[in-house]
Amino acid sequence: PAPGWTATTDVVVVGSGVAGLTAALGIRQAGLRVTVVTKAMLDDGSTRWAQGGIAAALGEGDSPEQHLADTLVAGAGVCDVDAVRLLVTEGPGAVRRLIARGAGFDTDEAGEILLTREGGHHRRRIAHAGGDATGAEISRALVAAVRSDPGMELVEHALVLDLLKDAEGHAAGLTLHVMGEGARDGVGAIRARAVVLATGGMGQVFEATTNPAVSTGDGVALALRAGAAAADLEFVQFHPTVLFLGPDAQGQQPLVSEAVRGEGAHLVDAAGTRFMLGQHELNELAPRDIVAKAITRQMQLQDTDRMYLDGRHFGAAMWAERFPTILASCLAHGIDPVTDLVPIAPAAHYASGGVRTDLHGRTSVPGLYACGEVACTGVHGANRLASNSLLEGLVFAERIAQDLTDRHRAGELPERAVDVAAARADRTVPLPAPEARAAIQHLMSRGAGVVRSADSMARAAAGLAELARAAEAHAGEQKPADPRVETWEAANLLLVATALVTAAAARAETRGCHWREDCPERDDAHWRRNLTTTLDDTGI
Ligand code: SIN
Repeated sequence: PAPGWTATTDVVVVGSGVAGLTAALGIRQAGLRVTVVTKAMLDDGSTRWAQGGIAAALGEGDSPEQHLADTLVAGAGVCDVDAVRLLVTEGPGAVRRLIARGAGFDTDEAGEILLTREGGHHRRRIAHAGGDATGAEISRALVAAVRSDPGMELVEHALVLDLLKDAEGHAAGLTLHVMGEGARDGVGAIRARAVVLATGGMGQVFEATTNPAVSTGDGVALALRAGAAAADLEFVQFHPTVLFLGPDAQGQQPLVSEAVRGEGAHLVDAAGTRFMLGQHELNELAPRDIVAKAITRQMQLQDTDRMYLDGRHFGAAMWAERFPTILASCLAHGIDPVTDLVPIAPAAHYASGGVRTDLHGRTSVPGLYACGEVACTGVHGANRLASNSLLEGLVFAERIAQDLTDRHRAGELPERAVDVAAARADRTVPLPAPEARAAIQHLMSRGAGVVRSADSMARAAAGLAELARAAEAHAGEQKPADPRVETWEAANLLLVATALVTAAAARAETRGCHWREDCPERDDAHWRRNLTTTLDDTGI
């Protein structure tokens, strides 16, 4: 169907996590009208699930240079050094501005921010809130800030469909499906002078993930369809310690923060043996790709599906005060970390790649910006350093707001003419049946999970191509799947899964979180570079 209604704003921001809301608040300061579109409620994205915290060189004796060095080591040779330098130098100020916006971090009696450690950090550098509820506090503060701004329009329960462009190819708004009632129900369009994507990740392409159900790669899919380039899609980070709820557990799984190891918990097997000792100078606090691989190897060696975290020595008071969220989720599953080993296994956690941007968050489509997990700014390389994601969302959202402010003041952000009536909202790609979601997750977990090979990825690619053919056949028969949110999400998952496998199959080496059992070595001579992916590469 063509859009049934049209609204107009200056900038439309898609997504309401730390990146989207920080961008929205910053753009508002330039006096521009902002519409924030989000798929569920404002606080339903990944940000509120973040536990460990936000990394920044805030502590005595720490420096942006040391933060830079740790980030580059974790990124395994393919970070964009200029982007990392911006991240670590602008990071401390960005955290202070977040505090000024109302986010309350844990402090000592003197009011100094308490800092913890996580994998890959050589210093205590992670600021946290509510013990292990950092994301929830950041989300609370930012949601309160946008809600108190009468000039901010908020559209909840709205899935974005496609980008609108003007005759010059500049972003001019988007089409979306609002799941509501009243004048803005159903498929509509928002015209805008610029579009900011902050839609988060794509963890739902896998069966078990720490990501919420809304993380279906919508922003990357929209950007690819709009002709933007994505990069580093093969670098999916598997968090080492996700609560193991059984071999068939599916969907969002409870995280057990790296900060638990940062405060001294050990990784052990069922017999209580610490298997990280001697594997890395940081032992349990090695970068997370190394820890995830070590856990996977131990599980293979011992023919089991879980390892354990031992934090019994913390005692009841520390668990309750420092890790209340994790304690509650363990207890909810019958595990008491004060007396029991906590069963864990790696699960999909974070897309280090995404829509390629420059240092101002601009994508390859003029007027289309991206920040947060949906973006690939180049700061993460082949493996994101723990707790750099909230920071990246903050810093690059601020940079986008600044860029749009500068363009606006220079008169370079005019209204865009676009023929909304001609925009078809039934997508440029065939819609698979909603059941395709489970099939995609199964194919991806088997074929492109923690450990990959050319064969496993060929099987995944063949299965995905079969799903795409089935969707096309339906379209050809004029019986397309019902155009509703579930089908659009399945279409997005199919596209981003295909793009991910395409990149992962091309990178014939092991680097960072991309682990090829058929190419087990890092190959700097051929692969010390970033891979970009466009819609054409996917064959969809
Ligand atoms: C964690 O708390 O372990 C997650 C931190 C992160 O993903 O950066």
